[in-house]
Amino acid sequence: MRRILLIVVLQGALVRSLTDVLGYFGDNVTLPSGADPLWTLSKIEWSIFSNNTWIATYRNGQENIERFYLYKQRLSLNTLSGDLTIHNLTTMDAMEYSVDLINDEGRDSGNKVKLTVKQRLQKPTIETVISPFPKGGCRVLLNCSSADEGVDFTWQVEPPSLDTLPMSARDSNSAVYLVSLNTPQKPAEFTCISSRKMENASSVITLKCDDGETQQKNVSSASSGLYFVASFIGFIAGWGLTLMYVFRGESKSSSLSESICLFF
Ligand SMILES: *[C@@H]1O[C@H](CO)[C@@H](O)[C@H](O)[C@H]1NC(C)=O
Ligand SMILES: *[C@@H]1O[C@H](CO)[C@@H](O)[C@H](O)[C@H]1NC(C)=O
Ligand SMILES: *[C@@H]1O[C@H](CO)[C@@H](O)[C@H](O)[C@H]1NC(C)=O
Repeated sequence: MRRILLIVVLQGALVRSLTDVLGYFGDNVTLPSGADPLWTLSKIEWSIFSNNTWIATYRNGQENIERFYLYKQRLSLNTLSGDLTIHNLTTMDAMEYSVDLINDEGRDSGNKVKLTVKQRLQKPTIETVISPFPKGGCRVLLNCSSADEGVDFTWQVEPPSLDTLPMSARDSNSAVYLVSLNTPQKPAEFTCISSRKMENASSVITLKCDDGETQQKNVSSASSGLYFVASFIGFIAGWGLTLMYVFRGESKSSSLSESICLFF
């Protein structure tokens, strides 16, 4: 009897297709059972690993979604469609899932789902140094950095007529932008967009020349504390070079050091 069952399951496995599903870290994802929508399911068994460890089952009208410790309180099973939803995705969830289905007429089918878990792009961090011009207006140095690897940066400025100078990044994970604000009382808005393939994330900062130490209030950032410490150290190192490069030979360095003091 066991042997016959095994053969049936294996035959089922042969005709299974592999469905690719992409989920994002911390989000929910639904794995499709691939069941015929006309079927009334009497048995649903979702399993993982080569030893077919059950993680969610529905048998004789009883649902059990707390079968395996790695998925405790993170599953929901749609007993009509057979679809399995995993909540609060972790990178450990990225693997192959199998589902075995039996309908009320005793027919069986199954599906395999390969789940990939990606990290969403985090919001970039914008940091600024404001350096006033003696005759009004100011120069703003903006540094945009990202916790994500291999992203490209784009700056957007509002109003677009501002006198700007994008500068090459010191390393691949930040982009420096130099702007002169000649109308000090009008606020300017800077958006840094980090992007990678089909994805992007952005942060916005609004600045006026007289913003002084409150300048960073509008920075939105999703960095974690630990990352911030690391990036901040890198940031200071990077800024040293940038400032030397930009302001070398200029006599207005007193106001600049003032800005740096304010900044720190
Ligand atoms: C994920 O599922 C939980 C529980 O159903 C829900 O509260 C939450 O809003 C969902 N999150 C997203 C991003 O859809
Ligand atoms: C199946 O394999 C997984 C990982 O390889 C293991 O954690 C689990 O204990 C195994 N289950 C059984 C019933 O052997
Ligand atoms: C960022 O992504 C959104 C869709 O997610 C798209 O509409 C927008 O054009 C993208 N922006 C850039 C600058 O790539």
